[in-house]
Amino acid sequence: MKKIQAIRGMHDILPDQTPRWQQLEAQVRELFQSYGYREIRTPIVEMTELFKRSIGEVTDIVEKEMYSFEDRNGDSLSLRPEGTAGCVRACLEHGLLHNQIQRLWYQGPMFRHERPQKGRYRQFHQIGLETYGMAGPEIDLEVILLSARLWRVLGIEGLVLQLNTLGTPEERRTWREELVAHFRAHYDALDEDSRRRLETNPLRILDSKNPEMAGLIAAAPTLFDQLGDESRAHFEAITAGLDAAGVAYEINPRLVRGLDYYTRTVFEWVTDSLGAQGTVCAGGRYDGLVEQLGGRATPAVGFAMGVERLIAVLEAQGRAAPDTAPDAYLVLMGEAAAREGVVLAEALRDALPGLKLQVNCAGGGFKAQFRRADRSGARLALIIGEEELAAGTIGIKWLREARDQITVGRDELAARLKEILENHS
Ligand code: HAM
Repeated sequence: MKKIQAIRGMHDILPDQTPRWQQLEAQVRELFQSYGYREIRTPIVEMTELFKRSIGEVTDIVEKEMYSFEDRNGDSLSLRPEGTAGCVRACLEHGLLHNQIQRLWYQGPMFRHERPQKGRYRQFHQIGLETYGMAGPEIDLEVILLSARLWRVLGIEGLVLQLNTLGTPEERRTWREELVAHFRAHYDALDEDSRRRLETNPLRILDSKNPEMAGLIAAAPTLFDQLGDESRAHFEAITAGLDAAGVAYEINPRLVRGLDYYTRTVFEWVTDSLGAQGTVCAGGRYDGLVEQLGGRATPAVGFAMGVERLIAVLEAQGRAAPDTAPDAYLVLMGEAAAREGVVLAEALRDALPGLKLQVNCAGGGFKAQFRRADRSGARLALIIGEEELAAGTIGIKWLREARDQITVGRDELAARLKEILENHS
C-alpha cells in the first residue's frame, strides 16, 4: 500500500521540537501582554473575497499562493495566508473599532502555496499583533521597540531592522507614475515578470530578486522625493525615536512589502543566518484597510513574525532548548509495586505541586526500566521493588550525579524529595 505522507511544505512539529515552540510562544505572549495587547482568535478559513480585497488582487499571495476552494454551498473560501485581514474583519463584525483603541495579538497557522525551501513552507506559523485607532507615529515606534525588546527576551542576536515609508495613497500615486515612466523607458531591460507588473503593480518590480534587474531598480526614483510634510514628519518622528532608544535601523527605499494594504511606515527584521528567507518579522501601518473592508476610516499598525524562522535562528545561534526532563522516574518492580506505584505517585503529586514525575507503566526488568529512566532525562530514580514494598520504603538513586543510593520511609518521601529538588543537592 502506498504510504500516506504529510503534504509537501507542511510539517509535523515533533515532541523534540515542541519545547522550543512552547517556550517561544510563552515568552512572546508574556511580552505582548505586558504592553497591553489582548489575544484574538479568528477562523483559519475565510471568504476568498476578504483576502482579495485586503491583500490585493494583483499580489503574489492572492494571484498564485492561496489555498482556495468551493465549499458545499458553492462559496469560495480560502485558508488564511496571513492574519491581518481576518483580524480587521472580526473587529468590524464585533464592533471593536467604534471610537476604541485596540491592541490585539494572534498566533496560528497560515497557508501559502509557495515553492517550499528552507524557511519557506506552505503551512507556517505566525505570531502577530495589530493596533487600531492610533494615528500618530508613537504607536509605530512602540511596536518596533516592542519587537526589538522581543529579540532581547528571546536571546536572538544580529537582526537588522529595515525601515521605509510608502507615504499616503496620493503620494504613492505620483511615485507610481514616475516609476512606470522610469521602467517604460527601459522596457527592453525588464524581465517577463516585471513587464507584467509594470501594468498591474509596478511597485512590486522593486521587490524583484532577479540580479539582472538590480541596476535598473537601484536607479529607480524613490518615494522620498514625493513625500508631503506630514508623511515626512511621521517618518522622522519614528527614526528620531529609534535613535533616542538606541535601536539601529537601515532605511531601505526599496522595501515595498508583498501586501497592498500598507501606508506610510513599513519595516522588516532581517537575518543573514537563514539564507534566502531571512525576514523573520514584518509589518507596518495600514490606515486604509479598515475603510476598504467597509468600516469607518481607522488608523492601524501591526506586524507578524514567522515562528519557524525564529526557531531556526535560535537553533543557528546555538540557543539551548528548554529542559523538559522529569525530576524523577518511578521504577516499579513486580505487579504489586506497579499497581501501588501509580497511586503513590498521585499522593506525591498532591504533596509536591509542580513535581515532574514519570511513572514506569510499561513493566520490564530493572535493566529496561533504568534504561527508560535514563532516556527520560530524569535526575532521580525512585525505586520500589518487592523489598521496599514489604518494608514501606522507597529507594532514591541519583542518575546524573555520583552519589550513593539512599532508602527512605514512604512517609518521609515527599519531604526528602522536596529537600533534594530545592537544594539541588
Ligand atoms: P508577511 O511579510 O507576508 O506579512 O509575513 C510575515 C512573516 O511571516 C514573514 O516575515 C515571515 O517571517 C513569515 N512568513 C511568510 N510567509 C512564510 C512562509 N511561506 N514560510 C515561512 N514563514 C513565512 C504579513 O503576513 C502581514 N500580515 C504582517 C502584518 C501584520 N502587517 C501588519 N500587520
